[in-house]
Amino acid sequence: SLSFEEKIQWSLRREQAMEVSPIPVVTVQTAPYDDQRPGTSGLRKKTFVFESKKNYLQNFIQSVLSSIDLRDRQGCTMVVGSDGRYFSRTAIEVIVQMAAANGIGRLVIGQNGILSTPAVSCVIRRIKAIGGIVLTASHNPGGPGGDFGIKFNVANGGPAPDTVTDKIYQISKTIEEYAICPDLRIDLSRLGRQEFDMENKFKPFRVEIIDSVDVYLNMLRNLFDFNAIKGLLTGAHQLKIRIDAMNGVMGPYVRRILCDELGAPANSAVNCVPLEDFGGQHPDPNLTYATSLLEAMKGGEHGFGAAFDGDGDRYMILGQNAFFVNPSDSLAIIAANVSYIPQFQQTGVHGFARSMPTSTALDSSGRVAKAMKIPVYETPTGWKFFGNLMDSGRCSLCGEESFGTGSDHIREKDGLWAVLAWLSIIAARKQSVEEIVKDHWARFGRHYYCRFDYEEVDPRAAFFLMRDLEALITEKSFSSQQFAVGNNVYTVEKVDSFEYTDPVDGSVTKRQGLRIIFADNSRIIFRLSGTGSTGSTIRIYAESYERDPSKHTKEPQVIHNYLNDFF
Ligand code: G6P
Ligand code: ZN
Repeated sequence: SLSFEEKIQWSLRREQAMEVSPIPVVTVQTAPYDDQRPGTSGLRKKTFVFESKKNYLQNFIQSVLSSIDLRDRQGCTMVVGSDGRYFSRTAIEVIVQMAAANGIGRLVIGQNGILSTPAVSCVIRRIKAIGGIVLTASHNPGGPGGDFGIKFNVANGGPAPDTVTDKIYQISKTIEEYAICPDLRIDLSRLGRQEFDMENKFKPFRVEIIDSVDVYLNMLRNLFDFNAIKGLLTGAHQLKIRIDAMNGVMGPYVRRILCDELGAPANSAVNCVPLEDFGGQHPDPNLTYATSLLEAMKGGEHGFGAAFDGDGDRYMILGQNAFFVNPSDSLAIIAANVSYIPQFQQTGVHGFARSMPTSTALDSSGRVAKAMKIPVYETPTGWKFFGNLMDSGRCSLCGEESFGTGSDHIREKDGLWAVLAWLSIIAARKQSVEEIVKDHWARFGRHYYCRFDYEEVDPRAAFFLMRDLEALITEKSFSSQQFAVGNNVYTVEKVDSFEYTDPVDGSVTKRQGLRIIFADNSRIIFRLSGTGSTGSTIRIYAESYERDPSKHTKEPQVIHNYLNDFF
């Protein structure tokens, strides 16, 4: 028989149990898919693949969760955010139910699921989470007929490195079951904590809904001089700006940070409501897709224009009359002007990095900056390759030709950070965008740059093309060949298939693109993209160096004609 105290405890426990019944955990049988290998930036597919292939989403989420050691998983915190695209809410519900069932202790989620990719990286670092999941297909269109994607970031806030994505892929190929709590429901709109008792041995499962902008905004305050930027954007001689959030995740960030905090008039921010299908547009900030910004800037009324992609890590900058700032130049120019950005005054500048196809304009900024040699690292395409460099203090600023720039403040590229960097430089130098760019060319020479994309190519054809091309250009007779184009003569100096050895962990990444490098540092690069969702995409990157300032006003498209002569 029970003692008096035992009886009381027993009835107390029974009462508690009746109040909130613990959430049951269910194990579901499933069959593996063989195509869940993450690409340059997560697993990206047509939305209908996630939406209608049985357990396609669940399999991948289970593979991600299983890739985390059970001991690390128990009681840990993960961050979840999305760019607001169609299917994100459904996916978040499944992720919450599966995280709980897999022993994750706490999920921190942006309100209504909204967090930009840079904000996810920022929050992971801030709260020391074990990692995070970002639901986005970046700049690819969204909606039932568009793309959906899942990115997994690790504890440093950056995209999972290959070792982790390989592990996820291996698990996905043999998965037989997944764990889920189908009864668990959360309210994504209610800020604050929600707690759930679990039926299994795990501790209570907690969900915390946070404001989408707060943590990220507070970080930016410490990196830039907000007063200086505010001075530029307000008052009688204000710089008129136009910022296009392209109906993606950046709307709330642009309104809150550029308008409310930094004083830009409300009408300088357009397309600021995140839409599930981005209004039917490509949320891709370049000259092809950011046409409404381009047209508006041509009017000449605004001195500075910027657009962002769906998840807010990419950006494009235009000066007055739609003067285009090439992303490789943007990186080089920020590098040459680090002294105007308060963040770098605090931390110093340890090194620069660029992805291999990004123009070599950065390299000259690195050579001359402060008359001190700043090392420049050349990595394969993909932001994940910058992670080790930044974690080990080797790299302070980095970027890619694909409209991404960032620094070691987080481990993702950061579109709004780049915009604030530019505004800081403009505020300090009191020059226009065009003047700053042309001044840079005059000092360092201009790297004319063009990229050509051949999309939805039959993967076999793409494979053979690259193989045959490699055979052709690596033949002895090809090196030292000369090509005359117009008045220029290009002499082949070096040909290779780009390979990268990570200076931190020694890992080697091979076959990252075929490079033809000429004696004057001009280059032609062939590379297979890693982000397409159907077929293969072949990219050709062409760069031609021009030292002579009197020849800096040609259209970059001249390279196009050169290329046609070439092949
Ligand atoms: C994503 C990655 C970038 C990469 C870009 C282009 O945006 O985050 O780091 O540069 O994809 O990749 P792709 O393989 O399509 O050239
Ligand atoms: Zn993106």
